[in-house]
Amino acid sequence: MPLQVRIREALYTLHRPSDLESLWTAMEENDFGEDERIPYWVEVWPAAIHLAEWIASRPGETSGRRCLDLGCGLGLCSLVAARNAARVVGMDYERGAVFYTRKNARLNSVPLPDAVLMDWRCCGFKPGSFSLVFAADILYEKRFWEPVEAFLRRVLAPEGKVLLSTPERQTTRGLLRWLQSLGWSCCPLSEKRVVQREYDMEVTLWELRL
Ligand SMILES: C[S@@+](CC[C@H](N)C(=O)[O-])C[C@H]1O[C@@H](n2cnc3c(N)ncnc32)[C@H](O)[C@@H]1O
Repeated sequence: MPLQVRIREALYTLHRPSDLESLWTAMEENDFGEDERIPYWVEVWPAAIHLAEWIASRPGETSGRRCLDLGCGLGLCSLVAARNAARVVGMDYERGAVFYTRKNARLNSVPLPDAVLMDWRCCGFKPGSFSLVFAADILYEKRFWEPVEAFLRRVLAPEGKVLLSTPERQTTRGLLRWLQSLGWSCCPLSEKRVVQREYDMEVTLWELRL
């Protein structure tokens, strides 16, 4: 049941309650609510693999830095950054994601990242709290764009940057154009095809700055 992912030389075992398909099919109509809340957090997405590899290969980018892993899911990127001595906070609005991020850190003998339960539509961080925010595959729905942009604008420290790892989707170019129209510079850092179990996606890692 746990997922095993190799990021450079290190093997991470990521525990989770079940797989996406089983959890999804067990959901009843009322469980979806207005917000849908499909349990995507129980997977490790190709965008997270690409971001985690990038973080692991550049320890200087995160070491000693206060970082936020936005929409952390099972916590892979938080764990890799914490192993690089980052002061990392994993954040998700799913209770299970926060629980498993902490548990996975313990079980992989990684210094425990903070993990907080928070919705990006209701930011509880002080302005300018993080010099680096990273996020993998969180902008898969257009309704997320505005709240996430407002959240990033608030929590990013002056001179800070965002690493956004996103698979190629029909909406991706529109997203980047929209961010640029709001004053963000968007620079592609690396592109890669990631094949991870049943997923096969072209992923781009973007650096965003205000
Ligand atoms: C596709 S998953 C990606 C998980 C992880 N970053 C990865 O790539 O493996 C999207 C994540 O965003 C989280 N999320 C969705 N809406 C959110 C919100 N409003 N506030 C905080 N987290 C949210 C989900 O719970 C989920 O963990």
